[in-house]
Amino acid sequence: MPRLDTVVILAAGQGTRMKTGEPKVLASLCGRSLLAWVIERALELDPQRVIVVVGHGAELVRKSAEHLDPQNRLQFVVQEPQHGTGHALQCCLPALGANPGSVVVLYGDMPLLSSASLARLVEAQSATRGGAAMLTATPADPRGFGRILRGAEGDVVKIVEQKDANANELAIREVNLGVYCFDGRDLVAHLPKLENDNAQREYYLTDVIGRIVADKKPIAALVLDDEREAIGVNTLVHLAEARAVLQARILEEHMLNGVFIEDPSTTVIDWGVAIGARTHIHPLSIVRTGVVIGEGCEIGPFANLRNGTVLGDGAAIGNFVEVKNSRVGKRSKAKHLAYLGDALLGEKVNIGAGTIFANYDGKAKHATHVEDGAFVGSGTVLVAPCTIGRGAYTGAGSVVTRNSNVAAGETWVGVPARKLEKRAKPTGQAER
Ligand code: UD1
Ligand code: CA
Repeated sequence: MPRLDTVVILAAGQGTRMKTGEPKVLASLCGRSLLAWVIERALELDPQRVIVVVGHGAELVRKSAEHLDPQNRLQFVVQEPQHGTGHALQCCLPALGANPGSVVVLYGDMPLLSSASLARLVEAQSATRGGAAMLTATPADPRGFGRILRGAEGDVVKIVEQKDANANELAIREVNLGVYCFDGRDLVAHLPKLENDNAQREYYLTDVIGRIVADKKPIAALVLDDEREAIGVNTLVHLAEARAVLQARILEEHMLNGVFIEDPSTTVIDWGVAIGARTHIHPLSIVRTGVVIGEGCEIGPFANLRNGTVLGDGAAIGNFVEVKNSRVGKRSKAKHLAYLGDALLGEKVNIGAGTIFANYDGKAKHATHVEDGAFVGSGTVLVAPCTIGRGAYTGAGSVVTRNSNVAAGETWVGVPARKLEKRAKPTGQAER
């Protein structure tokens, strides 16, 4: 792929159609923001720098994203107020300089584009020798997208926004995806001249394409084969559609790595989860970002594995068990109706049905340690902080109060739980 200088990501819009009040690009998709997905695609192109245009909730958006590139190529430009996609790029002109090289522009609400399509875009622009390239698609429903007008020879002539289109233009099925690669000098030349004489009184980036055509420079328009890449998120309905596509991609990757996912249609696995081969995920289970699951584990049905969960090989987390910020050692099991919060479990621990790790005292969270081979009886409440020693037992329904230390091998029972003393053998009676 030819060397790419700059990617600009437009992320300043409010996203009024979402009706959530938060900046649209912060909407969460499989465990991270829309913007984080787009930034990842941008960085995969290996550019010299990535400029993110922020505006609505600028500080929040910047904070959510500024740590995302370990090589620190992210820069933020503020667009305030927002007068359209063309205006957003105008705000970047000082940062771009007189000869910015090749510039890819992405919209922050298009999280499904593949890196392969973006690489094709950069190559196509380079092949035009001084023109521009853009991605288009022909989705079944062209909802809200700008339409691509082509001339008699089939070349792109201009882009018409849906709100400005006449009946003939609305019938066009080919749409603009808002993904372009420019020779930066064309941006420098045309952006300052944009006008806002349109239905939305905005400065449209799309008008730059018409101006490049007027200069008689070539526009390469690549039509995407997979229209699922073209989902732009403007409403919560679109967000759900995009989520479904990303979720399918994530599940597929795990399955190809040897994870048995019995029912992908009811399994939620966020981005950024590691799962060992031969692990079996039963239906209706949820695994959140950052969770690590070893090899040969059993998960679910109806398991909820939240942030900070690490499961050793062969562990089993069963029906209606929620695990948060906990380490579960190899071959340890919590198979039914339990909550494990801030727990540290050794190996081969058994957590009985209905066990609760009471980790929160109303002010702070506390940890509970359960050492190797311990057996926690059904319905035990472990009030943190407390420790259950190696091979120790708790009786069914016992409540182990805070700061208790159940020593190795001991059995504790009752409410509150106390040590069960071994009964003295009555004299003269044979040992049973
Ligand atoms: C835009 C395109 C349309 C295309 C569609 C693809 C224009 C004029 N129209 O329309 O042709 O089919 O995307 O998804 O470009 N933004 C800013 N500053 C602004 C306005 C928008 O940063 O002043 C950002 C938004 O945060 C968003 C992106 O630009 O990430 C697109 O804005 P949006 O309002 O969703 O544009 P569309 O109406 O979808
Ligand atoms: Ca959009």
